[in-house]
Amino acid sequence: MTYSKIIGTGSYLPAKALTNYDLEKMVDTSHDWIVTRSGIVERHFAADNELTSDLALQASRRAIEAAGIKADEIDLIIVATTSPDMPFPSTACILQDKLGIRNGGAAFDMQAVCGGFVFALNTADLYIKGGQAKTVLVVGAEVLSRMLDWNDRTTCVLFGDGAGAVVLRASDKPGIVASKLHSDGQHRNMLKADPKVSMDGKAVFKFAVTVLSEVVEEVLEEQKMAGTDIDWLVPHQANIRIIEATAKKLGLGMDNVVVTVANHGNTSAASIPLALDTAVRDGRIKAGQNILLEAVGGGFTWGAVLIKW
Ligand code: ACO
Repeated sequence: MTYSKIIGTGSYLPAKALTNYDLEKMVDTSHDWIVTRSGIVERHFAADNELTSDLALQASRRAIEAAGIKADEIDLIIVATTSPDMPFPSTACILQDKLGIRNGGAAFDMQAVCGGFVFALNTADLYIKGGQAKTVLVVGAEVLSRMLDWNDRTTCVLFGDGAGAVVLRASDKPGIVASKLHSDGQHRNMLKADPKVSMDGKAVFKFAVTVLSEVVEEVLEEQKMAGTDIDWLVPHQANIRIIEATAKKLGLGMDNVVVTVANHGNTSAASIPLALDTAVRDGRIKAGQNILLEAVGGGFTWGAVLIKW
């Protein structure tokens, strides 16, 4: 049986960091309100001349270096983003060029908003299992700061920019063991960018906790596993209260959850690979562990991926 194994991770945050105190000077808000409601303390914003593909490039270089491969070995690139450099060409094609890859491998973007990284990971896994790709670069990269409505204090304080990347390779040893994806377009107005981000925060909160718990249960039931079999939950980093509620439903203590929302804010499709890379590099995630990723985003889209590391 062929599996997709993550052989390298990388991430990148733009240099400019804004604390809640910085935001107090820009909008009618307070550090206490933001941290109590969301758990966010600071977020990074791309410089004016930094594009999503630039963030993706830095994260990808680090993942490729960690994997110990040459960029040219990558025969598929999927970039999950809701803030592409431009409508076309895809950020994945731009990234392929910036990485100097000239092997004719496929490259495309995946648009599932905050759910994008799990959708992209599942897609990459299917390409590898189907024998259509051997070495896949999956990136989540966002410059959401350009879509924020600075007249809407309920949303503009929640988001940040960043990128994370993983290199997947075909292997006969377990890697990705299960994935479940869902969408429901009926809820498309609850959270959207038209063209600026707007959200019904309370409705999103309730919806997110419900569907995340359901999809995680779906994966665990299929694998005949319990929440306590999970070594690390690596959730989409939107809001600490959503993360805590999901962990509780799983019966997991927060000691088994990777949390980066305080320093990254909600980086949409980039949040999971950013958190994953953080926990790989600081030694928390180790070979043989069960890692569960879960995300929910505008659309609505949601999903979970279980990985034997
Ligand atoms: N600073 C200060 N006060 C604020 C701010 C702010 N930035 N924003 C809103 N307020 C005020 C409101 O005006 C309101 O005041 P009022 O009571 O006088 O009318 C008060 O704070 C409470 O506002 P609520 O909207 O009720 O606040 P709530 O407790 O629901 O928290 C939040 C809002 C954080 C958005 C919450 O609903 C939430 O966490 N939702 C989940 C959505 C989420 O995390 N989305 C991220 C993107 S979605 C995704 O990634 C899937």
